[in-house]
Amino acid sequence: MPRLKKLDVVSIEDLSTAEIERIFTVAEALERGLDEGKPFTTAQNLVMSTLFYEPSTRTRLSFESAMHRLGGAVISSADMQASSAAKGESLADTVRVVSNYADVIVLRHPHDGAARVAAEYATCPVINAGDGSREHPTQTLCDLYILKKKKGYLKGLTVALCGDLKYGRTVHSLIYALARFGANIVAVPTAGMNVPEYVLDRLAAERSYSFSTVTMDELKSLAGGLDALYLTPSGPHQMALFTGGAAGERAPAGEPPAALDAFYVTRLQKERLGSKESPAENYVRFDARALRTHRTQEAVVMHPLPRTNELAYELDQDPRAIYFQQAAAGVPVRMALIAWMIEETARKDLHHPVAPAEDAIRFRADSAPRCVNSNCITRFEGLYLRPRFRAARSADPNRFNLRCDYCERELSAEFVGHTRSHRYYRFDESMHGFVRQWIAEGSLAVFDSVKQAEEHGYEPYKRGPQREILKGGEVSQAVESLADQIVADIPDMADVTLVGVVSHGALLAMRLRALIEKRTGVHPPCAALDVYSAADPIRPLDGSEEFSAEGRTIVIVDDVINSGWTVQRAMTMLWQIGRPGAVKLAVLIDRGHRALPIRPNYVGKNIPTSRTERVQVRLAAPGAGATSKAQDRVMLYSMVEPMRESEATR
Ligand code: NCD
Repeated sequence: MPRLKKLDVVSIEDLSTAEIERIFTVAEALERGLDEGKPFTTAQNLVMSTLFYEPSTRTRLSFESAMHRLGGAVISSADMQASSAAKGESLADTVRVVSNYADVIVLRHPHDGAARVAAEYATCPVINAGDGSREHPTQTLCDLYILKKKKGYLKGLTVALCGDLKYGRTVHSLIYALARFGANIVAVPTAGMNVPEYVLDRLAAERSYSFSTVTMDELKSLAGGLDALYLTPSGPHQMALFTGGAAGERAPAGEPPAALDAFYVTRLQKERLGSKESPAENYVRFDARALRTHRTQEAVVMHPLPRTNELAYELDQDPRAIYFQQAAAGVPVRMALIAWMIEETARKDLHHPVAPAEDAIRFRADSAPRCVNSNCITRFEGLYLRPRFRAARSADPNRFNLRCDYCERELSAEFVGHTRSHRYYRFDESMHGFVRQWIAEGSLAVFDSVKQAEEHGYEPYKRGPQREILKGGEVSQAVESLADQIVADIPDMADVTLVGVVSHGALLAMRLRALIEKRTGVHPPCAALDVYSAADPIRPLDGSEEFSAEGRTIVIVDDVINSGWTVQRAMTMLWQIGRPGAVKLAVLIDRGHRALPIRPNYVGKNIPTSRTERVQVRLAAPGAGATSKAQDRVMLYSMVEPMRESEATR
């Protein structure tokens, strides 16, 4: 047999509707064959490798059983701790190597987007058996297969998704599929466990699909027998549920479906909770009572399993409980998926558009943004795996959005830059054309603040003469004034630690320390805080001992306060390190218009400017002596959109 066609199934969206239907047809035939004890040789001479970096019972064993029953063979690394992954081997290398030993790889991994990476590096097809909290497409095939069997159709069914809809990967794949098959969804998340924005965005953008979200209590009142339940809209359309409407059709916006056809209950994915998330209180506990109203009595109860406490055992005997059938479907459905791959391989025609990587925005290594999702695979693999993004639609015309190619999370940037001219711009609608051009040239950079752009060595895009608004002597005066204010305001300088925001704030902090020492004899500890460094954000400056925030009066020092965003981030970082007694803010220049409600305690100079103007501070290093006056200065630039600039120069 030739090598299998490269039919990766990373997302349920990698399979067309016709393909899913074909897989179901094959699964039915295989199921009948299995019942009759028929032997199969479909996958003879083929080898499947199951690489599981996370625990599994159903998924791995049913995949392996499916392959054996098709006459194929399985090589398995159920515990990746027993493989070279434990020695630090990258996912890319592992799958590249395993591609030589197997014809298809089934991968489960804890990080979002891992299956996409594996699919890109493996030369054989990769099937995603769950990647972090992103997707689990073959579970969805099992879910839909059984649901369709029970109800006869999918279109127009109303399915309530209950529990952890944030981290539940089975739920995400199921949502995409239900939307595709024209079913109605009602989301019933446990508090704080809503369907993530990126899933909703993708549904809205690709399928113009939205659904309502209700609370557990609202669902309970429904189960209590209320005749109608009117919901506040969570999407663009007001939707009233359970007040009539025809079965078999997806309810048009505003027209409600008649009843609930299925409950899909999920367990709390406690292994995926962030370090600051506590296990949800009042997690759903689903029992037979929910099926007693005339609107729910026909509903089936589904669960991807394993269950913990959310699903009462008393339901197991109820014919409407179909979760064990979902699990049992794992064998024929996964057999059918493999059989379909073999069938497709035999076909001559080209198939399957893999998302073309060429459309992705390639950033230069030194100006590539990081994915905002801390569980994204790009945060964990070695340097070989560069973050990759595509331009995405943004609801705010003044922000430029990028979607991570691996985990789909979106990053929203306020500033864009041009890598060759080393200029940056505040993004707005008029810039789309330029940005498109820069993407094509590979010269786009994005920044989430002026600070970040300037730390990368970018200059604001400016036009006309730059105005010097403070000269050397005036800058020194402003710094002296800051020192005076701090000394006058804080009773005991021995309590003070200065924290300068990298890089001008740090210079300024050191100069303030020297002035404070001159005035009071106290030499306060001083540290530099880098708001863009995740690993080691705070480092003691020049002769200061180990940094400690505990109980100290921290004075955050920065050169200019723009939006206030940097200061907010600095405060969050400080709180992660320790609990200061008090936090104060000292800035050399206050421009007078901030996005965040942050007010500096000490201001060297107030310089009101307009939003399109940019204040840039140049500071001499402390101890520069007489030369400092020459080096110190504050400039004002006008930032204009390149559109206007090119019109002006035409
Ligand atoms: C699910 C998973 O691993 O995402 N299990 C499964 O494959 N049936 C659901 C879960 O673990 O809660």
